[in-house]
Amino acid sequence: MKKKVYVGMSADLIHPGHLNIINEARKLGEVIIGLLTDKAIASYKRIPYLTYEQRKIIVENIKGVKKVIPQLTLDYVPNLKMIKPDFVVHGDDWKSGIQKQTRKRVIETLTVWGGKLIEIEYTKGISSTQLNESLKEIGTTPEIRMKRLKRLLEVKPIVRLIEAHNGLTGLIAENIQVTINKMTKEFDGMWLSSLTDSTAKGKPDIEAVDVTARMQTLNDIIEVTTKPIIYDGDTGGRVEHFVFTVKTLERLGVSAVIIEDKAGLKKNSLFGTDVLQTQDSIENFSHKISSGKKSQITDDFMIIARIESLILNKGIEDALIRAKAYIEAGADGIMIHSKNKKPDEILEFCKRYKMFERKVPLAAVPSSYNTIYEKQLIEAGVNIVIYANQLLRSAYPAMLETAISILENERSYEADKRMMSINEILNLIPGGK
Ligand code: SPV
Ligand code: MG
Repeated sequence: MKKKVYVGMSADLIHPGHLNIINEARKLGEVIIGLLTDKAIASYKRIPYLTYEQRKIIVENIKGVKKVIPQLTLDYVPNLKMIKPDFVVHGDDWKSGIQKQTRKRVIETLTVWGGKLIEIEYTKGISSTQLNESLKEIGTTPEIRMKRLKRLLEVKPIVRLIEAHNGLTGLIAENIQVTINKMTKEFDGMWLSSLTDSTAKGKPDIEAVDVTARMQTLNDIIEVTTKPIIYDGDTGGRVEHFVFTVKTLERLGVSAVIIEDKAGLKKNSLFGTDVLQTQDSIENFSHKISSGKKSQITDDFMIIARIESLILNKGIEDALIRAKAYIEAGADGIMIHSKNKKPDEILEFCKRYKMFERKVPLAAVPSSYNTIYEKQLIEAGVNIVIYANQLLRSAYPAMLETAISILENERSYEADKRMMSINEILNLIPGGK
């Protein structure tokens, strides 16, 4: 009987390194590919460009592959126990970092039936990371970008967004990564905050920066990024206007709009009850949601209803009643907001929300209750976390300090040590030379 050879892979951007491994594997016997599901991949790095089904079709057609089965976790053990392969073949690049434990468990499991781990020298000169960079350069289409949020919601324990208010902050959201133990963390997309967009334009956050002006910012960001965008739609304006905004956002490839249940002149929520803010009636706001839903063209665009009950001290019961009504009206998501320093009321809301029969993704914006960790939000059932204003809030004090230093010293020399070098800014955006 032919020996069984198991190869686990993501196979998103197939390159000669993958083919080399499969080629070596087939010399040992019949090759079974354990293709990591989107969820398994998202547990330790960005979601793949291609869906599981698309990747499966490609891998099935590679010479020497006998069978493709799903691998549901980064951990190989469940599949290995099921198949009991004679060999597992893997690149030798997993001896350190996040995969080190996985490797150890593979070796231990194989020992039970005398199987062996065969490690192939890592193919140099080509890597998924490089291909990934090239793909970012090519860009994306509105359709792919829009759909990406729903894909992320399906596979990520929490979708992590950060505000962007121009092309440069868009690039930060797009490119910044932190790798700890080969586990890569990055932002999944961008929040087009009304607060930071207005502030960057030197205007108050009262819908004075109109949709046309907001679209200019949006366009600047879209031009240089590929990640999904959630647009802060403020109150959505009049229903007659909102239906046009939905179409515009959809056409541009924005994934979702969040509208808040306030009426009249909008003030920023974080003022709380210090300023006059009026909550819209459930009836009116539900009508706005359903009108928006009717006006969209695709099935992919999402309208998320933002509940201001906690901001306006109306209590959790009111928030829950509204959540139910808005879901009923067709909302694709709920955002619950709070300006408390402590997350208690948000967590209480989440606890009650968990018991809803009909649920949609839940978003939270921990600006004031900022001690909460993502893992606590995940536990509470939050699906989207929005870091709504932190980039601008950190940039402004730095700029102010520099401006003051130049005035005080009548030259810029003293401020220089706090700044990026001229060389760095010249080379920050590629293609300038
Ligand atoms: C924004 O970022 O503009 C928001 C969130 O709407 S908040 O500022 O907290 O109201
Ligand atoms: Mg806003």
